[in-house]
Amino acid sequence: MPAKGVHNLASAPRTHHDVAVIGGGVVGLSVAWAALRRGLSVLLLDRGDPEASASFVAAGMLAPTSEVAHGEESLLALGLASSRLYDAWCKELAESSGLDPGLRRCGSLMIARDRDEAEALERELAYRERLGLVAWRLRPSEARRLEPALAPTLRLALEIPDDHAIDPRALTAALAAAVCAAGGEIRHGAEVAALLHTDQRVEGVALRSGDRIGAERVVVAAGAWAAQIPGLPEHARVPVRPVKGQILRLRDPSGAGLVERVLRLADGYLVPRGDGRYVLGATVEERGWDRDPTAGGVFELLRAAREALPGVDEWIVEEVAAGLRPGTPDNSPLLGAGELEGLYWATGHYRGGVLLAPITGEALAAALTGEAPPPEALPFTPGRFTRAREEVGV
Ligand code: GLY
Repeated sequence: MPAKGVHNLASAPRTHHDVAVIGGGVVGLSVAWAALRRGLSVLLLDRGDPEASASFVAAGMLAPTSEVAHGEESLLALGLASSRLYDAWCKELAESSGLDPGLRRCGSLMIARDRDEAEALERELAYRERLGLVAWRLRPSEARRLEPALAPTLRLALEIPDDHAIDPRALTAALAAAVCAAGGEIRHGAEVAALLHTDQRVEGVALRSGDRIGAERVVVAAGAWAAQIPGLPEHARVPVRPVKGQILRLRDPSGAGLVERVLRLADGYLVPRGDGRYVLGATVEERGWDRDPTAGGVFELLRAAREALPGVDEWIVEEVAAGLRPGTPDNSPLLGAGELEGLYWATGHYRGGVLLAPITGEALAAALTGEAPPPEALPFTPGRFTRAREEVGV
């Protein structure tokens, strides 16, 4: 008879791996690829609902400088470290997978449409200068020389030359191919029924199909669903919640070239893919598991974009979607070992999963093999929440 809370099954698991990764988005895939490159055997479990994955909806900004927020300097350091890995990571990814991961070194502009936004942007510039980040003030005429389609009413812009973008769907496909090329196994349609564990440690994962997977270590990279995995012992559970984001995918029927750089508005962003396709995002909504796009959300996104870029009016709407970001109490990621031997977390990336994918792979591969993690990952141990809960006795 198993002890209380212990999800162990009578017969031995049919397969055994060094690592089982739960989650087939860019974070799970990058952890799997990094672990394989350390010589570990890896099975990745993808529940087979790609449209639910935040990676599927994500615009793919690689924008630590644009996105830095007051009080989040450790997250900035993590983002900058991941951004520095990106070029070499994509090059190896392209070589291993034979696919283009869709990186565009296009730079970004932060845009102010009126006097209030211009004052706020001046403060943002001063903050970035204090942090030693590269950001340049542009007069409206200078900004319009770089991006002639910007509205003539533009008040101010900042050029952020080191913030770029990648196509998360192309990246996902390249990562999946690289995982397979490195000898990893990806099981699609594999929904987890329970984490298998004793009182002491993780033993694997049971699937809804009835299959049981033996694994020395289990990495939970299931995004907003990470804390919902059945069978997690209560003391090891982490606080992850869904944060809804609505986006539009648009296409300029005249083709590429109207906008080259990522445009960041006070309340949204526009990411060009370089071929006439654009992603316009995103709302940030605390609405539980709701994933329905709404008229109000779409209206606000389009209104903001049109004020900055009147040419948007002519674009074709190809897709309207909503995704769920994994938020944590400090909206920063959970990277590394959990409170049960053999359990690891790679989730809680909130608005930064695509940017943080390479460093998350490195941090988790280090944790799985006992190497020192990248120093920038140290503040993001999952224990910061489980320990806090113990201290207040919940
Ligand atoms: N990374 C942008 C967003 O979550 O909307």
